Amino acid sequence: MKDILVLGIETSCDETAAAVLDGQRHILASVVLSQDTIHAPYGGVVPELASRQHLAAINPVVGEALRRAETPLEDIDVFAVTQGPGLIGSLLVGLSFAKALAYYFKKPLVGVDHVEAHIEAAFLENPGLPFPAIALVVSGGHTSLFFLKRRLHFRLLGRTRDDAAGEALDKIAKFLGLGYPGGPVIERAAASGDAARFLFARPRMKDESLDFSFSGLKTAALRAVEDEGISASHPQLADFLASFEEAVVGSLLENLNRAAEKYRPVSLILCGGVARNKRLRRGFEELARSNGIQPFIPSPSLCTDNAAMIASLGLAKLEAKKKAGVVLELDAYPRFIATRG
Ligand code: KG4
Ligand code: ZN
Repeated sequence: MKDILVLGIETSCDETAAAVLDGQRHILASVVLSQDTIHAPYGGVVPELASRQHLAAINPVVGEALRRAETPLEDIDVFAVTQGPGLIGSLLVGLSFAKALAYYFKKPLVGVDHVEAHIEAAFLENPGLPFPAIALVVSGGHTSLFFLKRRLHFRLLGRTRDDAAGEALDKIAKFLGLGYPGGPVIERAAASGDAARFLFARPRMKDESLDFSFSGLKTAALRAVEDEGISASHPQLADFLASFEEAVVGSLLENLNRAAEKYRPVSLILCGGVARNKRLRRGFEELARSNGIQPFIPSPSLCTDNAAMIASLGLAKLEAKKKAGVVLELDAYPRFIATRG
């Protein structure tokens, strides 16, 4: 029997991505075209520019993925696409493109959730990942904790009440004129810094909630920038950034630790763009080890936005016999919706 082939498409934010996977989840091709240079002058993603760039890029990016996978379009059996959350104009480009292909070739179209797809990246590389699991998704748009009793069973435990962790890093980098995206720039500049030099109060929820908050930390950092006269050329820039990075990481891991103690998972997953951060990866692995839990972090290229995770989640949903939507009725959703569990 011919192996199944899945084409995944992702356009929720500022990466146009397409990937081809086979039924065993081998990545035959994964193409990611970043818009970083387009948004860099603004220090953040400009939604209107993002959707226009997706329009220009979607056809060549999908074409390149098919070419690298040596797969003609008519051989694709399933289309998977990000439905949300994300920028609505950007989401609609990928969704409309995928709808047109599925409709024309009369193939199933599976809409997938972008945040769930970040978690899926861990299963893509570790199909036997044991349950129950807790997943921490940390990206530029999302900071959420999920409990997974089994495959495709996502129960939201906590989420950010304001900024996402990556967004806080991006904003501080923008304020200091260090470049975009801020996470990797801060990581590089902070590498030689003393993380204990500046102290930032860790955000703490008053209740037992596992929600996150980063806006207070961001304001404290901005105040320190003014009080201490921190600038891109300040001699203590590395110490300041290392301390800020440490505070963000500490706040993420504190909630994760509380969740692990409460729910006693056997696996811990760290995913999303900020999961590329070495300080966070180290702390996460230490936390898992000290709790006797197995840690899983996707490879760096599967942490940031990509379409392999979209194709893999689409395939998993089909395998679980979740009905593919009626092609022309599938809608994009810009905001997070807690339909899980
Ligand atoms: O998952 P992603 O590509 O897009 C969203 O779904 O948001 O994540 C992008 C975010 C940005 O905020 C970026 O600054 C951050 O991930 N990021 C990092 C690193 N690489 C990317 N943050 C810290 N350290 C890194 N090495
Ligand atoms: Zn993402």
